[in-house]
Amino acid sequence: MLEQIANELENLKNEAVAAIEAAKSTAELAELDIKYLGRKGSFAAYMSRMKDLSNEERPAFGKIVNEAKTAVSAALSDKRIALLIAEDTAKLQKDKIDVTLPGRFATLGSIHPTSAALREISDIFLRLGFTIEEGPDVEDEWHNFDALNIPDTHPARDVQDTFFVKSPKEVAESGNKILMRTHTSPVQARTMEKQQPPIRFIAPGRVYRNERIDASHYTIFHQIEGLYVDKNVTFAQLKGTLMNFAKIYYGPQASIRLRPGFFPFTEPSAEVDITCTVCGGKGCSVCKGTGWVEVLGAGMVHPNVFKAAGYTDPDITGFAFGLGVERLAILKYRIDDIRLFYENDIRFLEQFI
Ligand code: DAH
Repeated sequence: MLEQIANELENLKNEAVAAIEAAKSTAELAELDIKYLGRKGSFAAYMSRMKDLSNEERPAFGKIVNEAKTAVSAALSDKRIALLIAEDTAKLQKDKIDVTLPGRFATLGSIHPTSAALREISDIFLRLGFTIEEGPDVEDEWHNFDALNIPDTHPARDVQDTFFVKSPKEVAESGNKILMRTHTSPVQARTMEKQQPPIRFIAPGRVYRNERIDASHYTIFHQIEGLYVDKNVTFAQLKGTLMNFAKIYYGPQASIRLRPGFFPFTEPSAEVDITCTVCGGKGCSVCKGTGWVEVLGAGMVHPNVFKAAGYTDPDITGFAFGLGVERLAILKYRIDDIRLFYENDIRFLEQFI
């Protein structure tokens, strides 16, 4: 009986050791451990055979079982070590990092040249004592035209020049149609409506015109409006403010020149030129040989504009100006096409990082 059991155990041990040898992973090994040495495993099952044996045979039986179990246990731990090493090595191989490869660069975003110009120009006027006001892009005819002394017959009110917004019949027929503002000047009317003098602000923003697009025209662009209203504001102050601005934005060599102009909301009005920064005033293709480039409109606030705002004090005067942001930026950075501001070509934008 004992001899038979001993044979069986020898076979079981051999089978277990062979299976352990053949195991391919520590997970497989853990299963074999349970299968052979676990509480309900093959060897445990043998212990129940003890009762079939005589008292003399029992110690010998115990010894045989223990020896077989120890052998299987030893095989298990040897194999476990070998497999752990192999698994670790494989993992290290797989996760290998080539430290000589160049790193991945995070590309830096940049401020769009239009935003940069808006901020830079606004900052200059803030330093000169102006505050910032805002108005809506979707305006009404009253603020965009009527309150600014632009009569019904003015060509700018034609659909050829202005984008009108489709609105409900009552609004369309009310005589105060909705439109995309064609300039930032309506912010003058809106601010005077709610504030009494003294007022000194700029209004940076986007404007819309029904233009044919080319290198110097786009349907969307940006303006910065300026308004200073107080007792006895003079034309000389207007000129001084604009001269200061030009020298801060373009450098001390820059100068300005005022020519008589016409705007319905100012009287007198002036068109303001700045020294051509491309040729320094000598004359080139950008300034068409004149040495000057027109960048803004300005003037003394027209009495009708004050009237529309409800200002009645006769001592109140004011100056206003409106400058084209892209135009100023084009001169400063020597950009030759206004469309570049709106096409988001990365090769263009990257130059402003
Ligand atoms: N609103 C004018 C335009 O879009 C620019 C302008 C001219 C604004 C003279 C002013 C001004 O405030 O006084 O062409």
